[in-house]
Amino acid sequence: MLKAPFPYFGGKSKVASVVWKLLGQPKHYLEPFFGSGAVLLGRPDYHQGMVETVNDNGNWQDDLGSCGIFFDPPYSEIANRRKNIYTHDSESVAHDVREWSRDRAQKPSYRIVIAGYYDEHKELLSEGWGVYKWSTGGGYANVGNGQGRKNAEKEALFYSPHCLPLVKEQGELF
Ligand SMILES: C[S@@+](CC[C@H](N)C(=O)[O-])C[C@H]1O[C@@H](n2cnc3c(N)ncnc32)[C@H](O)[C@@H]1O
Repeated sequence: MLKAPFPYFGGKSKVASVVWKLLGQPKHYLEPFFGSGAVLLGRPDYHQGMVETVNDNGNWQDDLGSCGIFFDPPYSEIANRRKNIYTHDSESVAHDVREWSRDRAQKPSYRIVIAGYYDEHKELLSEGWGVYKWSTGGGYANVGNGQGRKNAEKEALFYSPHCLPLVKEQGELF
């Protein structure tokens, strides 16, 4: 397990361990919105033969077989944020991610986690998805006009129906 070597707007090091609890140890792990790679670097275990595919502004793939996917797209217009934060920025790709995931999430071979704001993806909850709410509580959230601080409280991980159940170390459910 490693730490991302530099701070990154929207970096997910704080919830990397939660993502891995939900995905387990998939033989094929995909992370299309890689950024600083905080989640992949936080992988607790790796065995020879596992495949890890990462990208940052690339093509969508399909028919992936058994896999775990972590999507962390740029926030959509719902965030009311500054534009062009990333070299490749988009306020619509978060919606594309949700639509792409919707049907595939029903297949037992797919475990999907989508990071974003609660309001962006809450409609998934009526389709068997779960949600883990968290707060960034610092770093880039405190920069700027105060919107970042307000948004820091809205963070959520949405997990698809075939993800593993979230259980705390002590055996409690989250
Ligand atoms: C919220 S950040 C990901 C942060 C990352 N999870 C981390 O922990 O550092 C979103 C990333 O998506 C990338 N991105 C933006 N538009 C994209 C697109 N259309 N396809 C793939 N990546 C894109 C951005 O460059 C940025 O690095």
